[in-house]
Amino acid sequence: MTRVLLTGAAGQIGTELASALAADLGPQNVLATDVRDPGEWHRGQGPAAVLDCLDPAAVERTVAQFRPDHVYHLAAILSATGEKRPRRAWDLNVGSLINILEVARTHPCRLFVPSSIAAFGPGAPRSPTPQRTVQRPNTMYGITKVAGELLCDYYHSRFDVDVRGVRFPGLISYTAPPGGGTTDYAVEIFHAALADGHYKCFLGPDTRLDMMYLADGIRAARELMEAPGEDLEDRNAYNITAMQFTPAELADAIRKLMPDFTIEYDPDPVRQAIADSWPERLDDSAARAQWGWEPRYTLERTVAVMLEGVARKRSQDDETV
Ligand code: SER
Repeated sequence: MTRVLLTGAAGQIGTELASALAADLGPQNVLATDVRDPGEWHRGQGPAAVLDCLDPAAVERTVAQFRPDHVYHLAAILSATGEKRPRRAWDLNVGSLINILEVARTHPCRLFVPSSIAAFGPGAPRSPTPQRTVQRPNTMYGITKVAGELLCDYYHSRFDVDVRGVRFPGLISYTAPPGGGTTDYAVEIFHAALADGHYKCFLGPDTRLDMMYLADGIRAARELMEAPGEDLEDRNAYNITAMQFTPAELADAIRKLMPDFTIEYDPDPVRQAIADSWPERLDDSAARAQWGWEPRYTLERTVAVMLEGVARKRSQDDETV
């Protein structure tokens, strides 16, 4: 059975990915780690541990003891927080990645390292954004993502580390909140709709961005990890996409199910500038051709599952108060 180690397992992606992997592989085969104490975030049945990926000895020890076949390296600081603490974002995003890549040289395992729409910036075509095009992002988060893609390519070609990755669009889910991102509005809006019937959006109404329901994102990561390595010409950063919308279009889609929902706009200059520099739609033809990527969640389906999921979570939270 495949043994899997996750870093950053307390985050938006890690929480759902750990449960999906534990359900398929058996909880004992999935080690969920995060810099935060598992008592604060771990709800699953399998093992969980504290792991600070900036500590190379701790990374080495964890990998040597658990002997994972696959590692999903999800620990990172997102775009908006990265602009508040650029030096910290560089240190964490790049420093943790190189520690993981170094360990993978001596403990052979397959790595998944996420990149992002943020790896593009001014100068790149925005709709569609090709798989291979100019990458000159002007956010620290984006700079760490481009550096990460290059590092992964380097460790693959120089040391034969089997590392793979996708460029995620904004990810939408209700299990665990995203933190400090620019696309987070597309999650917050559902919580506000159900709590207040109203949302004040930090991006302007016409800001079109590339988005994806997290279940599609998790399936993408897992399918890429299972794909035959020899087919992966663009192995470390496949564009993937599922849907593209603006805040106004998302609000319209919510209103189809909640006719009284209202939205107002109060753009935050920092996050608006970040969003304006990012792709509206990634061209995902390389991922489709090389490992069969295909999204399943449309905007309508995403809105329906989010309203249902957030409502269920709210009533569970009420019961536990
Ligand atoms: N969702 C991320 C962010 O907004 C982009 O990868 O920072």
